[in-house]
Amino acid sequence: MYFTMLLLSRTRPTFVLFIIAIIFVIVSLLALLSIPPVGTRKVSKGPVQQRLFQAIRDTPSAYTQTHILRKSSEPSNINCVPHKKLVFLKTHKTGSTTLASIIQRYGYLKNLTFLVPHRNHFLNYQKIFNADKINLTEVKDTGEGPWTFRKGYDILTNHARYNRTSMDRVFHGVRYVTILREPSAQFESAFYYFEIWRSIPRSREPLKLFMEDPELHFKNVMRTRQYYKSSMHNQHLYDFGMSHDDMNDDVKVRSKIREIDADFDLVMITEYFDESLLLLRKLLCWSMDDILYLAKGTRTPDYHGEVGPDLRNNIQAWNKADVSLYAHFNHTFWRKVRQYGSDFEKDLAEFRDRLADTHDTCCNNTRQNSKDRRVVLFSLKNNPSTWCRHVARGDVDFTNLIRERMLQHGIPTYDNRESHKRKKNKLLN
Ligand SMILES: *[C@@H]1O[C@H](CO)[C@@H](O)[C@H](O)[C@H]1NC(C)=O
Ligand SMILES: *[C@@H]1O[C@H](CO)[C@@H](O)[C@H](O)[C@H]1NC(C)=O
Ligand SMILES: *[C@@H]1O[C@H](CO)[C@@H](O)[C@H](O)[C@H]1NC(C)=O
Ligand SMILES: *[C@@H]1O[C@H](CO)[C@@H](O)[C@H](O)[C@H]1NC(C)=O
Ligand SMILES: *[C@@H]1O[C@H](CO)[C@@H](O)[C@H](O)[C@H]1NC(C)=O
Repeated sequence: MYFTMLLLSRTRPTFVLFIIAIIFVIVSLLALLSIPPVGTRKVSKGPVQQRLFQAIRDTPSAYTQTHILRKSSEPSNINCVPHKKLVFLKTHKTGSTTLASIIQRYGYLKNLTFLVPHRNHFLNYQKIFNADKINLTEVKDTGEGPWTFRKGYDILTNHARYNRTSMDRVFHGVRYVTILREPSAQFESAFYYFEIWRSIPRSREPLKLFMEDPELHFKNVMRTRQYYKSSMHNQHLYDFGMSHDDMNDDVKVRSKIREIDADFDLVMITEYFDESLLLLRKLLCWSMDDILYLAKGTRTPDYHGEVGPDLRNNIQAWNKADVSLYAHFNHTFWRKVRQYGSDFEKDLAEFRDRLADTHDTCCNNTRQNSKDRRVVLFSLKNNPSTWCRHVARGDVDFTNLIRERMLQHGIPTYDNRESHKRKKNKLLN
Protein backbone atom coordinates (compact mmCIF):
# COMPACT_ATOMS: atom_id res chain seq x y z
CA MET A 1 0.00 0.00 0.00
CA TYR A 2 2.70 2.38 1.04
CA PHE A 3 4.62 1.42 -2.08
CA THR A 4 1.60 2.19 -4.28
CA MET A 5 1.12 5.58 -2.68
CA LEU A 6 4.76 6.30 -3.17
CA LEU A 7 4.45 5.47 -6.85
CA LEU A 8 1.28 7.55 -7.14
CA SER A 9 2.90 10.62 -5.66
CA ARG A 10 6.21 10.44 -7.48
CA THR A 11 6.15 8.85 -10.92
CA ARG A 12 2.93 9.09 -12.84
CA PRO A 13 3.98 7.16 -16.03
CA THR A 14 5.27 4.25 -13.97
CA PHE A 15 1.96 4.13 -12.15
CA VAL A 16 0.02 3.85 -15.39
CA LEU A 17 2.26 0.99 -16.45
CA PHE A 18 1.69 -0.63 -13.07
CA ILE A 19 -2.11 -0.47 -13.48
CA ILE A 20 -1.86 -1.88 -17.01
CA ALA A 21 0.26 -4.73 -15.70
CA ILE A 22 -2.31 -5.51 -12.99
CA ILE A 23 -5.15 -5.49 -15.51
CA PHE A 24 -3.13 -7.76 -17.77
CA VAL A 25 -2.50 -10.23 -14.96
CA ILE A 26 -6.20 -10.28 -13.98
CA VAL A 27 -7.33 -10.80 -17.57
CA SER A 28 -4.82 -13.62 -18.13
CA LEU A 29 -5.89 -15.30 -14.92
CA LEU A 30 -9.54 -15.11 -15.95
CA ALA A 31 -8.73 -16.55 -19.38
CA LEU A 32 -6.75 -19.34 -17.78
CA LEU A 33 -9.53 -20.26 -15.39
CA SER A 34 -12.42 -20.08 -17.81
CA ILE A 35 -13.24 -23.57 -19.04
CA PRO A 36 -14.30 -23.85 -22.67
CA PRO A 37 -17.85 -24.98 -23.39
CA VAL A 38 -18.32 -28.71 -23.18
CA GLY A 39 -19.02 -29.16 -26.87
CA THR A 40 -15.64 -27.77 -27.85
CA ARG A 41 -13.81 -29.41 -24.96
CA LYS A 42 -12.28 -32.11 -27.08
CA VAL A 43 -10.89 -29.88 -29.77
CA SER A 44 -8.65 -27.62 -27.76
CA LYS A 45 -6.28 -29.27 -25.36
CA GLY A 46 -3.23 -27.33 -24.25
CA PRO A 47 -1.37 -28.70 -21.25
CA VAL A 48 -3.04 -26.21 -18.89
CA GLN A 49 -6.49 -27.10 -20.14
CA GLN A 50 -5.68 -30.75 -19.81
CA ARG A 51 -4.82 -30.31 -16.18
CA LEU A 52 -8.06 -28.44 -15.69
CA PHE A 53 -10.04 -31.23 -17.35
CA GLN A 54 -8.31 -33.70 -15.10
CA ALA A 55 -9.39 -31.61 -12.12
CA ILE A 56 -12.96 -31.61 -13.41
CA ARG A 57 -12.88 -35.36 -13.86
CA ASP A 58 -11.68 -35.91 -10.34
CA THR A 59 -14.37 -33.74 -8.75
CA PRO A 60 -17.65 -35.66 -8.71
CA SER A 61 -20.00 -32.65 -8.72
CA ALA A 62 -18.27 -30.80 -11.56
CA TYR A 63 -17.94 -34.08 -13.38
CA THR A 64 -21.67 -34.73 -13.19
CA GLN A 65 -22.30 -31.19 -14.36
CA THR A 66 -20.23 -31.51 -17.53
CA HIS A 67 -22.13 -34.67 -18.20
CA ILE A 68 -25.55 -33.14 -17.97
CA LEU A 69 -24.38 -30.29 -20.18
CA ARG A 70 -23.09 -32.64 -22.82
CA LYS A 71 -26.23 -34.72 -22.94
CA SER A 72 -28.43 -31.74 -23.68
CA SER A 73 -26.25 -30.92 -26.68
CA GLU A 74 -26.90 -34.27 -28.36
CA PRO A 75 -28.79 -33.97 -31.63
CA SER A 76 -32.47 -34.74 -31.59
CA ASN A 77 -32.18 -36.21 -35.09
CA ILE A 78 -34.83 -33.87 -36.45
CA ASN A 79 -32.88 -30.79 -37.36
CA CYS A 80 -29.38 -31.99 -36.84
CA VAL A 81 -26.23 -32.01 -38.94
CA PRO A 82 -24.62 -35.44 -39.41
CA HIS A 83 -21.40 -35.83 -37.49
CA LYS A 84 -18.70 -37.38 -39.65
CA LYS A 85 -15.70 -37.58 -37.39
CA LEU A 86 -15.30 -40.42 -34.95
CA VAL A 87 -12.94 -42.75 -33.22
CA PHE A 88 -14.42 -46.18 -32.70
CA LEU A 89 -12.29 -47.91 -30.10
CA LYS A 90 -12.63 -51.44 -31.41
CA THR A 91 -12.81 -53.98 -28.60
CA HIS A 92 -12.42 -57.77 -28.99
CA LYS A 93 -15.19 -60.33 -29.39
CA THR A 94 -17.97 -57.83 -28.86
CA GLY A 95 -19.65 -57.54 -32.26
CA SER A 96 -17.11 -54.81 -32.98
CA THR A 97 -16.39 -56.20 -36.45
CA THR A 98 -19.99 -55.63 -37.49
CA LEU A 99 -19.89 -52.15 -35.99
CA ALA A 100 -16.57 -51.32 -37.63
CA SER A 101 -17.92 -52.27 -41.03
CA ILE A 102 -20.98 -50.04 -40.52
CA ILE A 103 -18.73 -47.09 -39.76
CA GLN A 104 -16.32 -47.92 -42.58
CA ARG A 105 -19.20 -48.11 -45.05
CA TYR A 106 -20.38 -44.68 -43.95
CA GLY A 107 -16.92 -43.13 -44.22
CA TYR A 108 -16.08 -44.89 -47.47
CA LEU A 109 -19.26 -43.73 -49.22
CA LYS A 110 -18.71 -40.19 -47.95
CA ASN A 111 -15.02 -40.05 -48.92
CA LEU A 112 -13.83 -39.42 -45.38
CA THR A 113 -10.23 -39.83 -44.29
CA PHE A 114 -9.29 -42.87 -42.21
CA LEU A 115 -6.25 -43.80 -40.23
CA VAL A 116 -5.64 -47.39 -41.33
CA PRO A 117 -2.75 -49.74 -40.58
CA HIS A 118 -0.08 -50.10 -43.24
CA ARG A 119 -0.54 -53.87 -43.17
CA ASN A 120 -3.29 -56.10 -41.95
CA HIS A 121 -6.45 -54.80 -40.29
CA PHE A 122 -5.30 -53.70 -36.85
CA LEU A 123 -2.93 -50.95 -35.73
CA ASN A 124 -1.50 -52.80 -32.77
CA TYR A 125 -3.18 -55.02 -30.19
CA GLN A 126 -0.34 -54.83 -27.71
CA LYS A 127 1.45 -51.53 -28.04
CA ILE A 128 -0.48 -48.45 -27.03
CA PHE A 129 -1.46 -46.04 -29.82
CA ASN A 130 1.43 -43.80 -30.79
CA ALA A 131 0.90 -41.03 -33.35
CA ASP A 132 4.62 -41.06 -34.14
CA LYS A 133 3.99 -44.34 -35.99
CA ILE A 134 2.20 -42.50 -38.77
CA ASN A 135 4.28 -42.99 -41.90
CA LEU A 136 4.92 -39.44 -43.07
CA THR A 137 6.83 -40.56 -46.15
CA GLU A 138 3.43 -41.49 -47.60
CA VAL A 139 2.14 -37.90 -47.47
CA LYS A 140 1.52 -36.52 -50.94
CA ASP A 141 -0.17 -33.35 -52.03
CA THR A 142 -2.98 -34.32 -54.37
CA GLY A 143 -4.53 -30.89 -54.73
CA GLU A 144 -6.00 -29.82 -51.40
CA GLY A 145 -2.69 -29.42 -49.63
CA PRO A 146 -0.69 -32.21 -48.08
CA TRP A 147 -1.92 -34.13 -45.07
CA THR A 148 -0.68 -32.79 -41.74
CA PHE A 149 -1.10 -33.70 -38.06
CA ARG A 150 -3.20 -30.57 -37.76
CA LYS A 151 -5.58 -31.74 -40.48
CA GLY A 152 -5.71 -35.17 -38.91
CA TYR A 153 -8.17 -37.92 -39.79
CA ASP A 154 -11.93 -38.23 -39.71
CA ILE A 155 -12.21 -41.85 -38.64
CA LEU A 156 -10.46 -44.68 -36.81
CA THR A 157 -12.11 -48.12 -36.67
CA ASN A 158 -9.21 -50.59 -36.72
CA HIS A 159 -7.99 -52.09 -33.44
CA ALA A 160 -5.78 -49.74 -31.43
CA ARG A 161 -5.02 -49.55 -27.71
CA TYR A 162 -6.41 -46.36 -26.25
CA ASN A 163 -4.30 -43.34 -25.35
CA ARG A 164 -6.25 -40.13 -25.50
CA THR A 165 -3.24 -37.83 -25.47
CA SER A 166 -1.74 -39.52 -28.51
CA MET A 167 -5.06 -39.81 -30.29
CA ASP A 168 -5.72 -36.09 -29.76
CA ARG A 169 -2.67 -35.36 -31.89
CA VAL A 170 -4.40 -36.62 -35.04
CA PHE A 171 -8.13 -36.74 -34.28
CA HIS A 172 -9.63 -33.30 -33.81
CA GLY A 173 -13.26 -32.61 -32.99
CA VAL A 174 -14.19 -36.30 -33.17
CA ARG A 175 -16.73 -38.24 -31.14
CA TYR A 176 -15.43 -41.27 -29.24
CA VAL A 177 -17.50 -44.45 -29.20
CA THR A 178 -16.91 -48.05 -28.19
CA ILE A 179 -18.72 -51.27 -27.33
CA LEU A 180 -18.53 -53.60 -24.31
CA ARG A 181 -19.81 -57.11 -23.74
CA GLU A 182 -20.70 -58.99 -20.57
CA PRO A 183 -17.23 -60.18 -19.45
CA SER A 184 -17.90 -63.91 -19.00
CA ALA A 185 -19.44 -64.13 -22.47
CA GLN A 186 -16.62 -62.04 -23.93
CA PHE A 187 -14.01 -64.24 -22.23
CA GLU A 188 -15.54 -67.48 -23.45
CA SER A 189 -15.72 -66.08 -26.95
CA ALA A 190 -12.09 -64.96 -26.98
CA PHE A 191 -10.90 -68.22 -25.41
CA TYR A 192 -12.31 -70.34 -28.22
CA TYR A 193 -12.05 -67.93 -31.12
CA PHE A 194 -8.38 -67.16 -30.49
CA GLU A 195 -7.74 -70.83 -29.78
CA ILE A 196 -6.15 -70.09 -26.44
CA TRP A 197 -6.66 -73.76 -25.58
CA ARG A 198 -3.64 -74.45 -27.76
CA SER A 199 -1.40 -72.83 -25.13
CA ILE A 200 -2.53 -74.83 -22.08
CA PRO A 201 -2.38 -78.57 -21.30
CA ARG A 202 -4.79 -80.74 -23.27
CA SER A 203 -8.22 -81.11 -21.77
CA ARG A 204 -11.74 -81.98 -22.87
CA GLU A 205 -12.88 -78.84 -21.07
CA PRO A 206 -10.04 -76.39 -21.62
CA LEU A 207 -11.87 -73.32 -20.37
CA LYS A 208 -12.70 -75.09 -17.13
CA LEU A 209 -9.09 -76.16 -16.80
CA PHE A 210 -7.87 -72.60 -17.36
CA MET A 211 -10.24 -71.30 -14.70
CA GLU A 212 -9.05 -73.85 -12.13
CA ASP A 213 -5.86 -71.81 -11.82
CA PRO A 214 -6.20 -68.72 -14.01
CA GLU A 215 -3.16 -67.01 -12.47
CA LEU A 216 -0.88 -69.90 -13.44
CA HIS A 217 -2.34 -70.53 -16.90
CA PHE A 218 -2.41 -66.84 -17.73
CA LYS A 219 1.27 -66.54 -16.82
CA ASN A 220 2.08 -69.47 -19.07
CA VAL A 221 -0.10 -68.25 -21.90
CA MET A 222 1.60 -64.84 -21.74
CA ARG A 223 4.95 -66.57 -22.28
CA THR A 224 3.77 -68.13 -25.54
CA ARG A 225 3.88 -66.43 -28.90
CA GLN A 226 0.13 -66.50 -29.29
CA TYR A 227 -0.81 -63.04 -30.37
CA TYR A 228 -4.13 -62.75 -28.56
CA LYS A 229 -2.89 -64.09 -25.24
CA SER A 230 -3.53 -60.73 -23.57
CA SER A 231 -7.27 -61.29 -23.98
CA MET A 232 -7.21 -63.76 -21.13
CA HIS A 233 -7.45 -61.17 -18.38
CA ASN A 234 -9.76 -58.12 -18.40
CA GLN A 235 -9.49 -57.69 -22.16
CA HIS A 236 -11.70 -54.62 -22.20
CA LEU A 237 -9.58 -52.56 -19.83
CA TYR A 238 -6.50 -53.78 -21.65
CA ASP A 239 -7.93 -52.37 -24.88
CA PHE A 240 -8.46 -49.08 -23.04
CA GLY A 241 -4.72 -48.96 -22.39
CA MET A 242 -4.58 -50.35 -18.86
CA SER A 243 -1.74 -52.75 -18.01
CA HIS A 244 -2.52 -56.15 -16.54
CA ASP A 245 -0.53 -55.26 -13.43
CA ASP A 246 -2.92 -52.44 -12.54
CA MET A 247 -6.11 -54.43 -12.82
CA ASN A 248 -6.19 -55.65 -9.23
CA ASP A 249 -5.90 -52.10 -7.96
CA ASP A 250 -9.48 -50.94 -7.32
CA VAL A 251 -8.50 -47.28 -7.14
CA LYS A 252 -6.83 -47.41 -10.55
CA VAL A 253 -9.73 -49.35 -12.04
CA ARG A 254 -12.25 -46.83 -10.72
CA SER A 255 -10.21 -43.94 -12.01
CA LYS A 256 -9.94 -45.59 -15.45
CA ILE A 257 -13.72 -46.09 -15.53
CA ARG A 258 -14.20 -42.40 -14.68
CA GLU A 259 -11.77 -41.45 -17.43
CA ILE A 260 -13.61 -43.55 -20.02
CA ASP A 261 -16.94 -42.15 -18.87
CA ALA A 262 -15.67 -38.60 -19.32
CA ASP A 263 -13.87 -39.28 -22.63
CA PHE A 264 -16.41 -41.36 -24.52
CA ASP A 265 -19.57 -39.96 -26.02
CA LEU A 266 -21.18 -43.38 -26.25
CA VAL A 267 -20.40 -46.81 -24.83
CA MET A 268 -22.51 -49.41 -26.60
CA ILE A 269 -23.41 -52.83 -25.21
CA THR A 270 -23.19 -56.04 -27.27
CA GLU A 271 -26.15 -57.63 -25.51
CA TYR A 272 -28.27 -54.75 -26.81
CA PHE A 273 -26.74 -54.39 -30.22
CA ASP A 274 -29.67 -52.90 -32.14
CA GLU A 275 -30.51 -50.58 -29.26
CA SER A 276 -26.86 -49.51 -29.29
CA LEU A 277 -27.04 -48.66 -32.96
CA LEU A 278 -30.08 -46.46 -32.39
CA LEU A 279 -28.10 -44.52 -29.78
CA LEU A 280 -25.18 -44.26 -32.19
CA ARG A 281 -27.48 -43.00 -34.89
CA LYS A 282 -28.86 -40.38 -32.57
CA LEU A 283 -25.45 -39.28 -31.33
CA LEU A 284 -24.13 -38.84 -34.86
CA CYS A 285 -27.36 -37.77 -36.51
CA TRP A 286 -27.10 -40.53 -39.10
CA SER A 287 -29.94 -42.05 -41.09
CA MET A 288 -31.40 -45.48 -40.51
CA ASP A 289 -29.81 -46.68 -43.77
CA ASP A 290 -26.45 -45.70 -42.37
CA ILE A 291 -26.70 -48.20 -39.50
CA LEU A 292 -28.09 -51.23 -41.36
CA TYR A 293 -25.92 -54.35 -41.21
CA LEU A 294 -25.63 -58.07 -41.85
CA ALA A 295 -24.08 -59.73 -38.78
CA LYS A 296 -20.43 -60.64 -39.26
CA GLY A 297 -18.19 -63.04 -37.39
CA THR A 298 -20.85 -65.03 -35.48
CA ARG A 299 -19.08 -68.19 -34.29
CA THR A 300 -19.86 -71.73 -35.45
CA PRO A 301 -21.01 -74.26 -32.78
CA ASP A 302 -17.57 -75.96 -32.74
CA TYR A 303 -16.03 -72.73 -31.57
CA HIS A 304 -18.25 -72.42 -28.52
CA GLY A 305 -17.75 -73.82 -25.04
CA GLU A 306 -20.32 -74.61 -22.39
CA VAL A 307 -20.37 -72.13 -19.48
CA GLY A 308 -22.40 -73.20 -16.42
CA PRO A 309 -23.12 -70.93 -13.44
CA ASP A 310 -20.02 -71.95 -11.44
CA LEU A 311 -17.67 -71.46 -14.33
CA ARG A 312 -19.34 -68.16 -15.09
CA ASN A 313 -18.77 -66.99 -11.52
CA ASN A 314 -15.11 -67.95 -11.73
CA ILE A 315 -14.64 -66.13 -15.02
CA GLN A 316 -16.28 -63.05 -13.58
CA ALA A 317 -14.08 -63.16 -10.47
CA TRP A 318 -10.96 -63.44 -12.65
CA ASN A 319 -12.16 -60.52 -14.78
CA LYS A 320 -13.43 -58.47 -11.87
CA ALA A 321 -12.16 -55.18 -13.26
CA ASP A 322 -14.02 -55.69 -16.53
CA VAL A 323 -17.12 -56.67 -14.57
CA SER A 324 -17.03 -53.26 -12.83
CA LEU A 325 -16.47 -51.53 -16.14
CA TYR A 326 -19.36 -53.34 -17.75
CA ALA A 327 -21.73 -52.76 -14.83
CA HIS A 328 -21.00 -49.04 -14.96
CA PHE A 329 -21.66 -48.71 -18.67
CA ASN A 330 -24.64 -51.03 -18.75
CA HIS A 331 -26.12 -48.58 -16.28
CA THR A 332 -25.28 -45.43 -18.26
CA PHE A 333 -26.52 -47.19 -21.40
CA TRP A 334 -30.05 -47.53 -20.08
CA ARG A 335 -30.00 -43.97 -18.89
CA LYS A 336 -29.27 -42.95 -22.48
CA VAL A 337 -32.09 -45.14 -23.72
CA ARG A 338 -34.48 -43.35 -21.37
CA GLN A 339 -33.18 -40.00 -22.60
CA TYR A 340 -33.77 -41.05 -26.20
CA GLY A 341 -37.42 -40.40 -25.62
CA SER A 342 -40.73 -42.13 -26.18
CA ASP A 343 -39.94 -43.07 -29.80
CA PHE A 344 -37.35 -45.61 -28.78
CA GLU A 345 -39.50 -48.75 -29.04
CA LYS A 346 -41.09 -47.58 -32.27
CA ASP A 347 -37.70 -46.77 -33.83
CA LEU A 348 -36.33 -50.12 -32.67
CA ALA A 349 -39.20 -52.02 -34.28
CA GLU A 350 -38.76 -50.06 -37.50
CA PHE A 351 -35.01 -50.69 -37.47
CA ARG A 352 -35.51 -54.44 -37.01
CA ASP A 353 -37.98 -54.53 -39.88
CA ARG A 354 -35.40 -52.81 -42.03
CA LEU A 355 -32.75 -55.31 -40.95
CA ALA A 356 -34.98 -58.22 -41.92
CA ASP A 357 -35.66 -56.56 -45.30
CA THR A 358 -31.94 -56.10 -45.84
CA HIS A 359 -31.33 -59.77 -45.16
CA ASP A 360 -34.17 -60.86 -47.47
CA THR A 361 -33.03 -58.53 -50.23
CA CYS A 362 -29.36 -59.43 -50.14
CA CYS A 363 -28.86 -62.95 -48.79
CA ASN A 364 -29.28 -66.42 -50.21
CA ASN A 365 -30.16 -68.66 -47.27
CA THR A 366 -29.77 -71.90 -49.20
CA ARG A 367 -26.10 -71.36 -49.90
CA GLN A 368 -23.32 -72.25 -47.45
CA ASN A 369 -20.30 -70.03 -47.09
CA SER A 370 -17.35 -71.63 -45.33
CA LYS A 371 -14.38 -69.36 -45.90
CA ASP A 372 -13.55 -69.32 -42.18
CA ARG A 373 -14.19 -72.45 -40.12
CA ARG A 374 -14.77 -70.42 -36.99
CA VAL A 375 -17.68 -68.26 -38.11
CA VAL A 376 -21.04 -68.57 -39.82
CA LEU A 377 -21.06 -66.46 -42.95
CA PHE A 378 -24.04 -65.47 -45.03
CA SER A 379 -24.03 -65.72 -48.80
CA LEU A 380 -25.18 -62.98 -51.10
CA LYS A 381 -27.67 -63.70 -53.86
CA ASN A 382 -26.37 -63.94 -57.39
CA ASN A 383 -25.63 -60.58 -59.01
CA PRO A 384 -26.01 -58.58 -55.79
CA SER A 385 -26.67 -54.85 -55.98
CA THR A 386 -23.93 -52.39 -55.05
CA TRP A 387 -25.81 -51.67 -51.84
CA CYS A 388 -25.88 -55.38 -50.91
CA ARG A 389 -22.16 -55.62 -51.57
CA HIS A 390 -21.50 -52.66 -49.30
CA VAL A 391 -23.70 -53.89 -46.48
CA ALA A 392 -22.17 -57.38 -46.69
CA ARG A 393 -18.56 -56.24 -46.79
CA GLY A 394 -16.58 -57.06 -43.66
CA ASP A 395 -14.05 -54.85 -41.97
CA VAL A 396 -11.06 -56.69 -43.46
CA ASP A 397 -12.26 -56.05 -47.01
CA PHE A 398 -13.18 -52.48 -46.16
CA THR A 399 -9.78 -51.87 -44.61
CA ASN A 400 -8.13 -53.00 -47.86
CA LEU A 401 -10.36 -50.78 -49.98
CA ILE A 402 -9.89 -47.79 -47.70
CA ARG A 403 -6.12 -48.25 -47.42
CA GLU A 404 -5.83 -48.25 -51.20
CA ARG A 405 -7.81 -45.03 -51.39
CA MET A 406 -5.87 -43.34 -48.58
CA LEU A 407 -2.55 -44.15 -50.24
CA GLN A 408 -3.84 -42.83 -53.58
CA HIS A 409 -4.73 -39.57 -51.87
CA GLY A 410 -1.43 -39.32 -50.00
CA ILE A 411 -3.06 -39.84 -46.59
CA PRO A 412 -0.48 -41.65 -44.47
CA THR A 413 -1.09 -45.01 -42.76
CA TYR A 414 0.03 -46.36 -39.40
CA ASP A 415 3.29 -48.28 -39.38
CA ASN A 416 2.47 -51.55 -37.64
CA ARG A 417 5.41 -53.67 -38.72
CA GLU A 418 6.00 -54.81 -35.12
CA SER A 419 2.55 -56.22 -34.70
CA HIS A 420 2.83 -57.85 -38.10
CA LYS A 421 6.09 -59.59 -37.28
CA ARG A 422 4.83 -60.96 -34.01
CA LYS A 423 1.61 -62.29 -35.42
CA LYS A 424 2.32 -65.99 -35.48
CA ASN A 425 -0.94 -67.71 -36.30
CA LYS A 426 -3.12 -66.65 -39.17
CA LEU A 427 -6.25 -65.96 -37.13
CA LEU A 428 -8.37 -63.10 -38.29
CA ASN A 429 -10.68 -60.95 -36.23
C1 LIG B 1 -16.69 -39.31 -53.40
O1 LIG B 1 -15.72 -39.27 -54.42
C2 LIG B 1 -16.20 -39.79 -55.66
C3 LIG B 1 -15.03 -39.82 -56.60
O2 LIG B 1 -14.23 -38.69 -56.51
C4 LIG B 1 -17.37 -38.91 -56.15
O3 LIG B 1 -17.86 -39.44 -57.35
C5 LIG B 1 -18.46 -38.94 -55.09
O4 LIG B 1 -19.52 -38.08 -55.47
C6 LIG B 1 -17.92 -38.50 -53.74
N1 LIG B 1 -18.95 -38.70 -52.75
C7 LIG B 1 -19.23 -37.80 -51.80
C8 LIG B 1 -20.35 -38.14 -50.88
O5 LIG B 1 -18.62 -36.77 -51.67
C1 LIG C 1 0.18 -41.79 -24.03
O1 LIG C 1 0.67 -40.87 -24.95
C2 LIG C 1 1.44 -39.81 -24.38
C3 LIG C 1 1.76 -38.81 -25.49
O2 LIG C 1 2.28 -39.47 -26.62
C4 LIG C 1 2.68 -40.40 -23.73
O3 LIG C 1 3.43 -39.37 -23.14
C5 LIG C 1 2.25 -41.41 -22.68
O4 LIG C 1 3.38 -42.04 -22.14
C6 LIG C 1 1.34 -42.46 -23.29
N1 LIG C 1 0.83 -43.32 -22.25
C7 LIG C 1 0.98 -44.63 -22.28
C8 LIG C 1 0.41 -45.38 -21.14
O5 LIG C 1 1.54 -45.19 -23.19
C1 LIG D 1 -27.88 -54.48 -17.77
O1 LIG D 1 -28.83 -53.57 -17.27
C2 LIG D 1 -30.16 -54.01 -17.43
C3 LIG D 1 -31.06 -52.86 -17.01
O2 LIG D 1 -30.72 -52.40 -15.74
C4 LIG D 1 -30.38 -55.25 -16.60
O3 LIG D 1 -31.71 -55.71 -16.78
C5 LIG D 1 -29.42 -56.33 -17.10
O4 LIG D 1 -29.54 -57.48 -16.30
C6 LIG D 1 -28.00 -55.82 -17.09
N1 LIG D 1 -27.20 -56.80 -17.80
C7 LIG D 1 -26.20 -57.47 -17.24
C8 LIG D 1 -25.60 -58.55 -18.05
O5 LIG D 1 -25.77 -57.21 -16.13
C1 LIG E 1 -29.10 -69.44 -53.98
O1 LIG E 1 -28.09 -70.45 -53.87
C2 LIG E 1 -28.43 -71.68 -54.53
C3 LIG E 1 -27.34 -72.70 -54.19
O2 LIG E 1 -26.05 -72.23 -54.57
C4 LIG E 1 -28.57 -71.42 -56.04
O3 LIG E 1 -28.93 -72.59 -56.68
C5 LIG E 1 -29.64 -70.33 -56.27
O4 LIG E 1 -29.69 -69.98 -57.62
C6 LIG E 1 -29.30 -69.07 -55.44
N1 LIG E 1 -30.38 -68.09 -55.58
C7 LIG E 1 -30.20 -66.80 -55.78
C8 LIG E 1 -31.42 -65.94 -55.90
O5 LIG E 1 -29.10 -66.30 -55.84
C1 LIG F 1 6.22 -45.95 -45.38
O1 LIG F 1 5.85 -45.42 -46.62
C2 LIG F 1 6.76 -45.72 -47.68
C3 LIG F 1 6.30 -44.94 -48.92
O2 LIG F 1 5.04 -45.38 -49.36
C4 LIG F 1 6.80 -47.21 -47.91
O3 LIG F 1 7.70 -47.54 -48.92
C5 LIG F 1 7.21 -47.90 -46.63
O4 LIG F 1 7.13 -49.30 -46.76
C6 LIG F 1 6.31 -47.47 -45.48
N1 LIG F 1 6.85 -48.02 -44.26
C7 LIG F 1 6.12 -48.65 -43.35
C8 LIG F 1 6.89 -49.22 -42.23
O5 LIG F 1 4.92 -48.77 -43.37
